[in-house]
Amino acid sequence: MNEPLKGKKVGIIGIGNIGASILRGLLATREDAQFLIADVRRASLNAFASEPRVVPCDSNKELASKADVVILAVKPGDVGAVLEEIAPLIRDKLLISVAAGVTTVELERYIGGGRVIRVMPNIGARVGESVSAVCGGRNVVAEDEALADEILSAIGSVYHVKESDMDIITGLSGSGIAFFAEVIDAMADAGVYEGLPRDLALTIAAKTALGAARMVISGDDPGTIKAMTASPGGTTIRGLYAMESRAVRAAMMDAVIEATKRSRELR
Ligand SMILES: NC(=O)c1ccc[n+]([C@@H]2O[C@H](COP(=O)([O-])OP(=O)(O)OC[C@H]3O[C@@H](n4cnc5c(N)ncnc54)[C@H](OP(=O)(O)O)[C@@H]3O)[C@@H](O)[C@H]2O)c1
Repeated sequence: MNEPLKGKKVGIIGIGNIGASILRGLLATREDAQFLIADVRRASLNAFASEPRVVPCDSNKELASKADVVILAVKPGDVGAVLEEIAPLIRDKLLISVAAGVTTVELERYIGGGRVIRVMPNIGARVGESVSAVCGGRNVVAEDEALADEILSAIGSVYHVKESDMDIITGLSGSGIAFFAEVIDAMADAGVYEGLPRDLALTIAAKTALGAARMVISGDDPGTIKAMTASPGGTTIRGLYAMESRAVRAAMMDAVIEATKRSRELR
């Protein structure tokens, strides 16, 4: 079995929402790797103090000099400063960046060439359900892609895409998970409006969304789910009519299209 991570030291700079999720996913699924972490917030490092395979570093430079592969999980605006600081130490190492909107060309420019992989994950990473879109820079080799795949599969599904598709993926999944959260919340509100306790309404709304998602993933297209649910003159077609009257489909399309446009603006 090919095990690209075996014996490797994986460094993560930025232990916030995404960095901590990647670390937790890797700790839960990969027994044969060690982890180095760095963050300007000491408290973020202390959260992993009881993990014997996690070594907190005093600086990004210390991490970069010791790690075999570096994952960069700071905000896009902090990427330049961090990479300029560690560039001489990672020229021969794989750099994996999850920063939204920072292109492989920019990453390569910051470190003066080198092997870079850009990733757009989503916050589903917290529960092992990230959708991670991946594209490699000019100098990556097959082993680098295998290593990135193994790391990212610890937080969910991995898809290789063209870099030009990264903006739409940012809209569809990076931001899109928040759109689904809004829909679930709104449906739960309706349950509360009609008299259900909030926690029950929220759980039922979320599990209903999960059921629809699992059906689509297993091959039922959305139209089939609609046809299997909407009987003539019944409750579902009445609800679908209400959705049509309020242009819910157009609103959902607009949300993704606007988020995609914003991603392009931020480049
Ligand atoms: N959150 C999402 O849904 C999501 C989805 C897709 C992609 N991303 C990308 O993932 C990256 C991280 O996002 P996030 O939500 O995880 O951010 P976050 O929670 O703010 O985590 C970033 C961490 O990095 C720290 N940091 C800042 N400057 C640093 C430096 N020079 N050296 C070391 N650590 C530093 C931050 O500390 P301070 O807070 O003190 O600055 C913070 O603890 C971003 O580039 C974002 O575009 C996020």
